[in-house]
Amino acid sequence: MGAIALHARPSKDFEAKLAQTKELLQRAAREFTPLKQASSLGAEDVVITHLIASLGLDIPVFVLDTGMLHKQTLELLERTKADSRLRIEVLHPQHEAVVHFVKREGKEPMYKSVELRKACCHIRKVEPLERALAGQKAWITGLRREQSQARADVPLVDDSEGRTKLNPLADWTWGDVWYYIEQEKVDYNPLHDEFYPSIGCAPCTRAISLGEDFRSGRWWWEDETAKECGLHVKETA
Ligand code: ADX
Ligand code: SF4
Repeated sequence: MGAIALHARPSKDFEAKLAQTKELLQRAAREFTPLKQASSLGAEDVVITHLIASLGLDIPVFVLDTGMLHKQTLELLERTKADSRLRIEVLHPQHEAVVHFVKREGKEPMYKSVELRKACCHIRKVEPLERALAGQKAWITGLRREQSQARADVPLVDDSEGRTKLNPLADWTWGDVWYYIEQEKVDYNPLHDEFYPSIGCAPCTRAISLGEDFRSGRWWWEDETAKECGLHVKETA
């Protein structure tokens, strides 16, 4: 059974949430320029990109290609780049830094310690993110409150970090996300049909079983508290 059949169940107030999301994206395009959408090409992000395209908003989308993404994710990236309504920007880590790190720590340093895992995330995601966001007034993410304890209070508009972060799906459920994908026939990562709810880099993402937490397939060998890659960690945390 695929992800749509398994998950597409709108909440009672789905239409109101959708209207609020559209309104926020339209307001963002007017008031927060320059701004960009950060997309991992996961289910939430393809919904937001679809809304940007269908509302005709001039909001570029950036993808951090860590060099460790699944083949399925890279194929979806190619299909997304072919959509002429979108401006897609792909950022790569600094080649020298990756070569140096891999030479020193080996091909799979992430399993050796949390420090090495975070160092890998820094080189492959956090530094490229800083480049992607340089000069931007705001950015759009697919964070949802339901995703984890750490995200339970995610606001629609987050002004707490210096640069405004807009989380237009903050109050959407997983059922809402898949209902939108079904209704609008949005292209999505086929890994979602193989029980990957949250998709990151290949060595750090696995499928989950029935009843497991949404993010339990990410950095599954680490403690719950360590499981953020630095893209969304508050500086004070
Ligand atoms: S992570 O911090 O654990 O990696 P997660 O995969 O839940 O984050 O994604 C949360 C949001 O961060 C996404 O909706 C997207 O906005 C942004 N994001 C995550 N990974 C990437 C990526 N590779 N490129 C661009 N944005 C990303
Ligand atoms: Fe490296 Fe894993 Fe972080 Fe990707 S998620 S940057 S492979 S440690």
